[in-house]
Amino acid sequence: MTDTRIPLAGVIGSPVSHSRSPQLHRHWLDTCGIQGHYIPMDIAQADLAGAIQMLPKLGFLGVNVTVPHKEAVMSLANQITDRATLIGAANTLIFLPDGNVLADNTDGYGLLVNLQQGAPCWDAAAGPAVVFGAGGAARAVVSTLIDAGVPEIRLTNRTRSRSENLQRDFGQRVTVTDWVQAGNILDGAALVVNATSLGMVGKPELRVPLDGLSSDTVVTDLVYAPLKTRLLQVGEETGCTVVDGLGMLLHQAVPGFERWFGHKPDVDAATRAAVLRWHLNLVWPGQLAWAKPRRHKCSPSLAVRFGMRMLLCTDFMGRVVAP
Ligand code: ATR
Repeated sequence: MTDTRIPLAGVIGSPVSHSRSPQLHRHWLDTCGIQGHYIPMDIAQADLAGAIQMLPKLGFLGVNVTVPHKEAVMSLANQITDRATLIGAANTLIFLPDGNVLADNTDGYGLLVNLQQGAPCWDAAAGPAVVFGAGGAARAVVSTLIDAGVPEIRLTNRTRSRSENLQRDFGQRVTVTDWVQAGNILDGAALVVNATSLGMVGKPELRVPLDGLSSDTVVTDLVYAPLKTRLLQVGEETGCTVVDGLGMLLHQAVPGFERWFGHKPDVDAATRAAVLRWHLNLVWPGQLAWAKPRRHKCSPSLAVRFGMRMLLCTDFMGRVVAP
């Protein structure tokens, strides 16, 4: 019998309301003409195992995984890709037709494609990379950069023991520096990556001294809200090639969408615009400063337009609707 069920995918986490994935997948489903749905699901830790058993039975082909479940899902999957094993966390689950659950991690893929597109001048083998942070996101970054052939990774994190764990797991190409010395390891870096949550809306600013940056350095930030973080701002002023974090978010979603819905979606200007439109609708007025043209004061009419955007809301599938 033919399966006539509408294909479903989604994102599981707690909370999930911050996730931009529903808007992104909605855009791709619409542009690919697929009659499917992508649903955000807030699932508590205690319900995780039950949910992963039940979702395939409800017609889900897979899910993205966000905080705090990225590590916990590893023990609930029957198959794990090499890259997820190396990173120790998964952001994508695929529910296979035979009932098995495959766990993958596409964060590193997203980082790499984002860098290739945003900084085509960057050559992994050209020189050291500096990575701020040693959490789950940093693990994906370090593993990917090593795989790509970066000769040295200078790692620095507030909690030194976490950096040392990464050095133990990824080997001597990783060097560890105390967080208070973070500003001293920028000299000669070909790439600088912020993989901490510092600089994100609602979090403290990344206060690392950045005067060691040079115009040859490529600078990227995994934080995408705001789009232009202090790191990217200073990088731009120094003449560096800067790559914002939104592209990584978009690219890391491609492999999951392709596996679940059978189409490789485009990451193009329209995709960015679809997610950014939602981004502006959510970000509060104080955070809209980055959206102002840099050399012009925000005109009253522009402010009114942004003010109006704040009044828009969305239906449960993430489509923007009038209030
Ligand atoms: P993720 O999975 O997104 O990486 P995480 O594992 O909680 O999340 O890691 C968050 C990163 O941001 C860590 O590197 C964390 O430093 P610690 O390992 O010392 O916690 C870093 N971070 C968060 N808040 C910070 C702060 N106020 N100052 C410095 N680093 C901070």
